Amino acid sequence: MSILVTGGAGFIGSNFILDWAVRSDELVINLDRLTYAGNPANLATLADPARYLLIQGDIGDGELVADLLARYRPRAIFNFAAESHVDRSIHAPGTFIQTNVVGTFTLLEIARIFYVSLRGDEERDFRFIHISTDEVYGSLNPADPPFTETSLYAPNSPYSASKAAANHLVRAYFHTYGLPTVTTNCSNNYGPFQFPEKFIPLMILNAINDLPLPIYGDGLQVRDWLHVADHCAALRLVLEKGRPGETYNIGGDQEKTNWEVVTTICDILDRLKPRLDGHSYREMIRRVQDRPGHDRRYAICADKLKNAMGWQPTRNFTEGLVTTIDWYLRESAWLKSVNSGAYRDWVDKQYGLTAGVGAL
Ligand code: NAD
Ligand code: TYD
Repeated sequence: MSILVTGGAGFIGSNFILDWAVRSDELVINLDRLTYAGNPANLATLADPARYLLIQGDIGDGELVADLLARYRPRAIFNFAAESHVDRSIHAPGTFIQTNVVGTFTLLEIARIFYVSLRGDEERDFRFIHISTDEVYGSLNPADPPFTETSLYAPNSPYSASKAAANHLVRAYFHTYGLPTVTTNCSNNYGPFQFPEKFIPLMILNAINDLPLPIYGDGLQVRDWLHVADHCAALRLVLEKGRPGETYNIGGDQEKTNWEVVTTICDILDRLKPRLDGHSYREMIRRVQDRPGHDRRYAICADKLKNAMGWQPTRNFTEGLVTTIDWYLRESAWLKSVNSGAYRDWVDKQYGLTAGVGAL
């Protein structure tokens, strides 16, 4: 048996494949375009070709996807592949529409053709698991209840709009064609292998390189943080127990302001890697220009998943941050490998013009 994972060389996909490989002998086919965010080195420990295959390619390449499905007959597709960074979607939305919307459409279409050819157990067991985000629901006010699966969609960034469009297509493929799809909307993940354009690894990387820690606006925006291993555990359960046609929200019950997150990172680094001048990393925090259309608050009610499958987030945020920071401190080779020219160009573009609005 096998599963097809798309975008498996990215942050969540590689954590998912590594966790999967510990628990199963099943072959994992990883279809990844290897954009700037895809790093095959994340999976370098998986050396057995009978259990792991990396195919460099695009989910929008229908011929390739059809060939992979015919050849390996996976019992499930986990669709992680996406352009995933809100700030990049503001600068260049086109690739987000191409991969997240058109790419997901192609994947669905080829999966549908494959699915109708299945019979018996293969037909009964097949699942298309679409990994998505709480950002499709838009932004909450401080007193609003958390998002549930029935919250209205109100995406505010090109990223979240493209993910919302993909979610609608996935839903339509279930209702119209009977493709057994399940969609998950998860809150902000953190953990090893996250590309340092995202908030937490960016703060860690900048701090250890003596660079400013840029906080957008007043830093009082709220995100619900979930350790990536808890997300992966939820996705494994969703394959086993998720009902086709359903959506499940996944969240960590750990709402934090960006300010709380960055100061916690600084305090942990003060203990794990004190600055040579004896000052706190907190002195490096700088307020910079806010992100356009910046969502104020996300919060997730994951009761449906918890009640249906007995899932719970297991990692406390501060403890999870300590192990994550420890990982980034130990994995200097990994950091070096992602710290390419393309990454530096992005940092210049995003922070070169806006950084230094003023120290607090
Ligand atoms: P990531 O940017 O780290 O990785 C994305 C991966 O997809 C990369 O390996 C990239 O090479 C690959 N990819 C991009 N375009 C592709 C294409 N056209 N064909 C094949 N592969 C392609 O993203 P991530 O943070 O691991 O997120 C994975 C999924 O989870 C995304 O769908 C994202 O929307 C969703 N999600 C992320 C978070 C989060 O906090 N990171 C939270 C909720 C949901
Ligand atoms: P991010 O990791 O980009 O995730 P998302 O926007 O998808 O939630 O950002 C998390 C929060 O951190 C978000 O409110 C934006 C904020 N942020 C900063 O304040 N400074 C930064 O340099 C970055 C990248 C993010």
